[in-house]
Amino acid sequence: MTDLLDRLNTSLTPGEFAALLEGIYEHSPWVTEAAWPARPFATLASLKHALAQVVREAPLEAQLALIRAHPELAGKAMVARKLTAESTHEQGVAGLAHCSEEQFETLQRLNAAYNEKFGFPFILAVRGPRSAGLGRQEIIDTFTRRLHHSAAFERAECLRQIHRIAEIRLNERFGIEPVQGRQAWDCAELLAGHSDVEGVLTVTYLTEAHRACQAQLLRWMQDCGFDDARVDAVGNVVGLYRGSDPQAKRLLTGSHFDTVRNAGRYDGRLGIFVPMIAVRELHRAGRRLPFGIELVAFAEEEGQRYAATFLGSSALTGGFVPAWLDQTDVDGTTMRVAMEAAGLPGTLQAIGAERRDPAAYLGFVEVHIEQGPVLNELDLPLGIVTSINGSRRFLGEVIGTASHAGTTPMDRRHDAALAVAELALAVERAAKREPDRVGTVGIVEVPQGSINVVPGRCRFSLDLRAPHDDARDALTTEVTVELARIAERRGLRYTLHETLRAAAAPSAPDWQARWEAAVSALGLPVHRLPSGAGHDAMKLHEILPQAMLFVRGGHSGISHNPLESVTDDDAQLAVDAFRHLLEQLA
Ligand code: HGY
Ligand code: MN
Ligand code: MN
Repeated sequence: MTDLLDRLNTSLTPGEFAALLEGIYEHSPWVTEAAWPARPFATLASLKHALAQVVREAPLEAQLALIRAHPELAGKAMVARKLTAESTHEQGVAGLAHCSEEQFETLQRLNAAYNEKFGFPFILAVRGPRSAGLGRQEIIDTFTRRLHHSAAFERAECLRQIHRIAEIRLNERFGIEPVQGRQAWDCAELLAGHSDVEGVLTVTYLTEAHRACQAQLLRWMQDCGFDDARVDAVGNVVGLYRGSDPQAKRLLTGSHFDTVRNAGRYDGRLGIFVPMIAVRELHRAGRRLPFGIELVAFAEEEGQRYAATFLGSSALTGGFVPAWLDQTDVDGTTMRVAMEAAGLPGTLQAIGAERRDPAAYLGFVEVHIEQGPVLNELDLPLGIVTSINGSRRFLGEVIGTASHAGTTPMDRRHDAALAVAELALAVERAAKREPDRVGTVGIVEVPQGSINVVPGRCRFSLDLRAPHDDARDALTTEVTVELARIAERRGLRYTLHETLRAAAAPSAPDWQARWEAAVSALGLPVHRLPSGAGHDAMKLHEILPQAMLFVRGGHSGISHNPLESVTDDDAQLAVDAFRHLLEQLA
């Protein structure tokens, strides 16, 4: 690796430099030539980023020329065997040379429609996020989905895919493999094998699938060399890797393994696998650091089965809400009964014993996917979280009068669903009134609804967030005032129950600086951004200094969606950054 990097850094001309990187950017040596002035490159990651910057700063024509320099998938060039060696290999690994007749025809039709719509070929890194090759159907599904995007989005996405193609080619040219990143990726694949619902990923608190995940995480922590690994009183999986001095303070880290419904594979979980693999590397090297590492796989963060968001981390802060134990899920099962059924004590005494003494800890760090488009759009694999937005959540119900859809005149109705519809639009208007505020009505349901019945009841949820708590509360007031007005005007009643009030959590400057130093040491620019999503770090913030590292997500950073995606290379950089942070503390 270093040999080639040295030769690149000591190359005397752009031509000499581009020759060493011949074929990395398909038929486009201008990209590598233009990166020459930016040398020396400290790392391969910094070279990759510099090449992406060249394209970002290039004029539109050059960007389009780069896209048009790439062959179609399973297109004419492949049939005519006129692909470059690299493209032949890539399309081969993805099995595109062995399409069924129907698949081949579908791809030709998609190629034609895409070119027709955008005027450039569809580009997809068919080696995929794990570099092992996407399946033909996954390629066709992605192709079909992206055909519906805007031209501006697709142009940017094609360039991102080209950088991913170049990244994998560079890895091979440099003879490197993101081994730990791939293992984190594989852990996500394996853990996603457990789900409450067939065919999608849904793992809610203490279900059978949740307990299977617990057991798997426990085994992995043991295999990775943690001295102790246990399931605690609320179902968190806790691993301890002792320091050279058992009395020394510990670094606390981790994230959650529960999911939303129909979720992605990396939300929370990447933040468990990254430290777990970093500890395994210490264990393999027989190294002990002058502090312990306590990894917690939090059992409940999303608040799906019970309205008990951050339940797992709340047990550590002493913030477990006693009333949670009596909450019932949709089947009427109380949390206490669910805990007992899962072999947990289900008592406040046992839960109280999980409370951590802040004096015994250095701080809390969490690695998490960004869950947004910022890093993806900046071609940056990692980002530094400056603060976690404050959020409030509510569950509510509007109560009207169920009546006959045919016989009830429009001006005599007490339609609960219409009120919630009006409320949802009001939430959108209110959130948009100030920058960085967001409001979501994620659940709307008419219990026992019928096609020919005016809805008498309508349940709904509210999720309101903002970078600062005063803005969060102002938004909440605007929305609740509007709800009262809507109910008044429509002659309806309603209930509204607050289920979460999470304060904004600024990162501790010294811990944020450690992440920044780690990212810089990888040869990457430091990009700071706030977190719109909530995290266990905002709960631990109540007792410990904390800071988070974000990892780029594919598909524009989409999350809470099965399309959630992380590459093995970015996961590798997250492991490297985490290990660098450990060394800073050592
Ligand atoms: O909702 C959130 O912000 C996070 O995904 N739990
Ligand atoms: Mn989430
Ligand atoms: Mn999460």
